[in-house]
Amino acid sequence: MIHEISNPVTKTLLNHLREMQTDALRFRHIVQEIARLLAYEALGSETLEEKMITTWQGEQLFGFINEEDLIFVSILRAGLPMIESLTALFPKAPAGFLAMKRDEKTHQSVLYYDRIPECKGKTVVIVDPMVATGGSLCDAISVIKTKLPGKIISLNLIGSPEGLTVVEQKHPDIEMYIAQVDEKLNGQMYIFPGLGDAGDRSYNTPS
Ligand code: PRP
Ligand code: URA
Repeated sequence: MIHEISNPVTKTLLNHLREMQTDALRFRHIVQEIARLLAYEALGSETLEEKMITTWQGEQLFGFINEEDLIFVSILRAGLPMIESLTALFPKAPAGFLAMKRDEKTHQSVLYYDRIPECKGKTVVIVDPMVATGGSLCDAISVIKTKLPGKIISLNLIGSPEGLTVVEQKHPDIEMYIAQVDEKLNGQMYIFPGLGDAGDRSYNTPS
């Protein structure tokens, strides 16, 4: 199921990413902010577990998300600012990494590094700003499914309708929260209007 966020704050931040004068530092900062806005939506119906804590009035029970039941998985490299932001929000949550690179000619994703913690029964939150052809996200979900998580959520900034359909058809059981569904994929398999290459924009590397 795809949930597109309609909040105007999210849309404003996202559209600043499209501006080419947005430098890498601000680009990563905005990506981090949007990651949190997406997480608020995606985790909006999590149950709170009662925990006894010491307050200024003594011992009392209060509700908390059990962050050790969450696992954040970043698709490198453009997902790095997102995972930094979310693991700062939930510092006890384990983090995993999948390094993927789209082949420039075939546009197929190639997995070259995989470091995922134990996921059995847990909620895995995959973060990657872009869903273009959907190949990278589909492959990431397939890898994570082999580790038997309880639930998979994907947080993304921009997707193409074509790529999102591919992910929805291949993995109908996951929940996707996305800041913007753009117009289309272009002939080079980039999202239009999109923002260019999110990894390059984040880290000042030429395309
Ligand atoms: C980008 C992006 C996604 C992928 C999306 O990564 O972060 O992982 O492309 O494209 P797809 O939906 O067609 O698979 P890229 O391969 O450019 O690597 P990078 O993050 O290192 O720049
Ligand atoms: N990767 C990106 O970062 N942007 C696109 O538009 C497509 C793939």
